[in-house]
Amino acid sequence: PALSRVLCLDDFEPLSRRYLPRPVFGYVAGATERNASLRENADAFTEWGFVPRVLTDVSKRSQAVTLFGREWSAPFGLAPMGMSALVAWRGDLALTRAARAADIPMIMSGSSLIRMEEIIAANPEAWFQAYLPGDSRRVEALVDRVAAAGFGTLLLTVDTAVLPNRENNVRNGFSTPLRPSLRLAWDGAIRPRWLLNTWTRTLLRHGMPHFENSFAERGAPILARNVLRDFSARDHLNWEHLALIRRRWKGRLIVKGVMHPEDARRSEGEGADGVIVSNHGGRQLDGTASPLRVLPEVVKAAPGITVMLDGGVRRGTDILKAVAMGAKFVFVGRPMLHAAGVFGEAGVAHAIDLLKGEVDRDMALLGVNSLDEVTPECLVRVRN
Ligand code: FNR
Repeated sequence: PALSRVLCLDDFEPLSRRYLPRPVFGYVAGATERNASLRENADAFTEWGFVPRVLTDVSKRSQAVTLFGREWSAPFGLAPMGMSALVAWRGDLALTRAARAADIPMIMSGSSLIRMEEIIAANPEAWFQAYLPGDSRRVEALVDRVAAAGFGTLLLTVDTAVLPNRENNVRNGFSTPLRPSLRLAWDGAIRPRWLLNTWTRTLLRHGMPHFENSFAERGAPILARNVLRDFSARDHLNWEHLALIRRRWKGRLIVKGVMHPEDARRSEGEGADGVIVSNHGGRQLDGTASPLRVLPEVVKAAPGITVMLDGGVRRGTDILKAVAMGAKFVFVGRPMLHAAGVFGEAGVAHAIDLLKGEVDRDMALLGVNSLDEVTPECLVRVRN
C-alpha cells in the first residue's frame, strides 16, 4: 500500500488488519470484554461541538506547547505500547525516531522487547513507562536502571492491578506464551510481509523476543510464565509504593491511568509532576468512562500539576476538544503502532504529520492562534 493514500489516522487500521497476522492485529486493535470503553472513548468526543470565532486573524497561529519547561512542536505525543517489536520490526525504535524527528514526546513501554538503553540512544528525550513489580527491592532496582540509562521522565501505569480479561486475545490465539500452532503458521504464511519483515528478521537477529526492561527477570522469554506471576503479585500495590518511588526517583514523575479526581489530588499530594487521565485505551476495566468525561473534574482536583489525557484521540478536532476541556497535552496509541507495523518509521512520521496538519487547520477554522485560547467557551454540548 502507498502512504500517499493514507489521509487520516483511521486509514491505518484497515491496512494493518491485512498486514498483521490476526493474533497480533487483535492484540493492538482490541480491548476487553464488550469493548464498551473502547467505543466510549471515541463517542465522548462526538458529544461536544465547536463554536468557532471568525475574522480573528489566525495567520500567526502555533500549536507549540510547553510541558515541564520544554517546548514541543505539537500538543500530542506517542503513548507507551508494549511488545511493539512484535508488530513492527524494532517497533519502539521506529516510534521513537519518528517522534524525535517531529519534535514530539515518545513514551517507551516497560513491556518493550527492546532495551531501554537502545531507545534512549536513539532518542535522548524519550520517557519511560513502568509497571511496578510487587516487591520494593525490585522497584528500586528498576528505578535506578531507568535513571542510569538517562531518562528524565518516569511514568507509572497504575490501572493494571491484575491482568485484564482480553477475550479477543484468547479467541485469536494471542496467548502468553504465544504457542506455535498450525493456525498461527497459516496466518503468518498468508501475511508474508509481516512474517519476513518483522518475525523472521527478529528471530534471526535476536532469537525469541524478550522483555528487556520491566519487572521480568532480564532475558526472560517474552512468553515466560514469570511475567504472569509478577502481574498477579501486583494487586497489593498502593500509594506507599508511589511515595517510595517519589523518594527514589529524582526526575519527573507522571502517574498514568488516573480517572478519579481524588486520585489525581492524591497524586499531586504525593509529589507527582503530572497525571495522564486514561482508561488504557479501554484495555483494562471494561465499562470505564471515557477520560474526556472525567477530565474537567480531574483538572479541578489537581490544579498544581500537569493533566494530560489519552484514549480515542484520532483527529485534530479530538485534540482541540481535549485541550478545551482542560488537558494540557494528549497521547495517541493504536494508530501509531498500526502505522509502524505497515510502513515502519515513515508511517509514524506520516501519521504525526497528518495530525499536526489537522490541528493547524482546525485552529485556524476555530479562530485561535494558540492553544491557550482553546477554552471551554469554544465548546457546546451537542448530544448526551
Ligand atoms: C497499550 N497501552 C499501554 N499502556 C501502558 O502504560 N503500558 C503499556 O505497556 C501499554 N501497552 C499497550 C499496548 C498496546 C498494543 C496498546 C494499543 C496500548 C495503553 C496506551 O499507552 C494508551 O493508554 C492507549 O493506547 C490510548 O488509547 P488509544 O490512543 O489507543 O485509543
